[in-house]
Amino acid sequence: MKAIVYTEYGSPDVLQLEEVEKPTPKDNEVLIEVHAASINYVDWQVLTGESTFLRLWNGGLRKPRHKILGDDIAGRIESVGAKVTEFQPGDEVFGISTFDAFAEYASVSEKDLAMKPASMTFNEAAAIPYAAMTALQGVRDKGKVKSGQKVLINGASGGVGMFAVQIAKQFGAEVTGVCSTSKLDMVRSIGADHVIDYTQEDFTANGQLFDLIFAIAGQRSIFDYKRALSSDGIYVCVGGSLGQYVQATLVGPLISMTGSKKMGSMFTNPNKKDYAFLSELFEAGKVVPVIDRCFPLSEVPEALRYYGEGKVRGKIVITMKQNGEA
Ligand SMILES: NC(=O)c1ccc[n+]([C@@H]2O[C@H](COP(=O)([O-])OP(=O)(O)OC[C@H]3O[C@@H](n4cnc5c(N)ncnc54)[C@H](OP(=O)(O)O)[C@@H]3O)[C@@H](O)[C@H]2O)c1
Repeated sequence: MKAIVYTEYGSPDVLQLEEVEKPTPKDNEVLIEVHAASINYVDWQVLTGESTFLRLWNGGLRKPRHKILGDDIAGRIESVGAKVTEFQPGDEVFGISTFDAFAEYASVSEKDLAMKPASMTFNEAAAIPYAAMTALQGVRDKGKVKSGQKVLINGASGGVGMFAVQIAKQFGAEVTGVCSTSKLDMVRSIGADHVIDYTQEDFTANGQLFDLIFAIAGQRSIFDYKRALSSDGIYVCVGGSLGQYVQATLVGPLISMTGSKKMGSMFTNPNKKDYAFLSELFEAGKVVPVIDRCFPLSEVPEALRYYGEGKVRGKIVITMKQNGEA
């Protein structure tokens, strides 16, 4: 089968389209004919090796141990391992492959997959898993969003942010999306009540207070975020600079112990119940992935170059099939 392979950390130039062995599913895995995949920030980090933690996770401090990239996956099951109970050949599924998706086939544990709703295209399905799961768990679970609350999404124009805006709206929140100038229209178009251009305005210094701040991007001090929280507001950090995330993880719990504001970070925990919830939102037309561009498998290097330019609105999808459907 064809796959995008890399043997050293670096820019998208290190990626090659190569013929590699088709995987054989283990007992608890299914073999998926991949129809579409999508790019997440973690793919960029694993490609460039910029995160030591991810180098270690990938098992290769100096060189990548795992040679294929791509987490989010959507496709049709070709065969199932001996102990698989939930799926059968022909099922259309989506989920997280943990670095195997930029290939024509992937073996994925059945626990990491969900049935794709018939009304969802493979391209849409590939855009959803990691980003939408993170947005849902950040806004609903850790952020405990309630109807009528004022919610600020910092990083509203990216993969996670685009879902977070829509999910917060579904829970009845008044949503402010923070993004750069050229993406304001997109963030408005997915339902944000207000938008703030972070190149023009500092949302932590304009006197507005928020019941929930979901930090997906940026590199701000936790004390800036604290200032922008209402008296019993919640701050949830999932991304942005390493410093921002580490501060939220280490200092956040201390701040939470000493006052009524709750601050901290979270790590996404993909699970089938939440896939079902996201599928319901999709089928009801309440959450729709914004797909900036689609690239064929052979153009993954171009896709990642484009991603690295920071111009993407929502998600980039990689299509293994001509129209992502066949
Ligand atoms: N903790 C977890 O379990 C978990 C899970 C998934 C993702 N994440 C993290 O979440 C973050 C976002 O992931 P993603 O896949 O959504 O990435 P993405 O699609 O690349 O989106 C990132 C967005 O951040 C915006 N941005 C950059 N600088 C900003 C700033 N100073 N203020 C506000 N927005 C800014 C960019 O657009 P503009 O042009 O508008 O700036 C971009 O749209 C990453 O740090 C990733 O590691 C964490």
